[in-house]
Amino acid sequence: MSRIVYVNGEFVPEEEAKVSVFDRGFMFADGIYEVSSVLRGKLIDNNGHMVRMNRSLNELDMAHPCTDEEIEAIQHELIKRNNLDEGLIYLQITRGAADRDFAYPKDTKPTLVLFTQAKNVLGNPIATKGISVITVEDIRWARRDIKTVGLLAPCMAKMQAKAAGADDAWMVEDGHITEGSSNNAYIVTKEGTIVTRQIGNEILNGITRRAVMALAAKHDYKVEERLFTVEECHNAAEAFITSATMFVQAVVKIDDAVIGDGKPGTISNQLREAYIAEAMAEIAD
Ligand code: PDD
Repeated sequence: MSRIVYVNGEFVPEEEAKVSVFDRGFMFADGIYEVSSVLRGKLIDNNGHMVRMNRSLNELDMAHPCTDEEIEAIQHELIKRNNLDEGLIYLQITRGAADRDFAYPKDTKPTLVLFTQAKNVLGNPIATKGISVITVEDIRWARRDIKTVGLLAPCMAKMQAKAAGADDAWMVEDGHITEGSSNNAYIVTKEGTIVTRQIGNEILNGITRRAVMALAAKHDYKVEERLFTVEECHNAAEAFITSATMFVQAVVKIDDAVIGDGKPGTISNQLREAYIAEAMAEIAD
């Protein structure tokens, strides 16, 4: 079924949407993106995504195509035009079109693209089953805190996982987990402490991560934001990932190690339920 997408000021059927071949997003991955989830036709934690979008633009000295309010109006219009009940909205901003040159061109008009994707987020069957991950080398660049569209390394990591019969990959740098291919990674130790890597240039500062950290504090879980090793993962009592499209998703196998009893753990389940309850409360307002 054809969607209505948004490109540079226009709402058009996806078959008619056009971006220049000279767009720097296409040639240099000179662009940033955000993915916000939608439940019951309403955006979840979108403010956080707007804040991170602005940070990514500023870090890359890229022009803002319009105000946050204008972007939110486009998001709402897309939800309406596509009759989206549950799924996500993808947003991409690039530096725009210019003759090919590595140096940033002056005064190009940024390209703004948004589209919707229907997805079963709440009732996703994998949520009750749990996912398997393999650990792979993190071969990405050194500014993973900026959400750029340069995503070939995570694509390769996902393909490695697929070839190994796993659902996803956790990336490893100097023996420590950075994050999942498109999500933040957590383990729960046998003592019941939630461990996730500290924020820095090495990982994306997840919007879902921030919400889940706050929920963990509210529920009095012990949390350590620090480096953790592949070995710690293999010996963990529980493991999970967070992202805008998966919320809190239990991990039940890491490489060949079955985690816990091979089913989503108690803390992972509680955090998933708490996150969903909070999201539902947000859209009920
Ligand atoms: N990915 N780490 C990476 C590398 C990511 O790509 C993502 C999100 C996250 C989680 O961030 P958040 O909680 O703000 O979604 C962490 C999105 C969903 C994607 O690329 O589709």
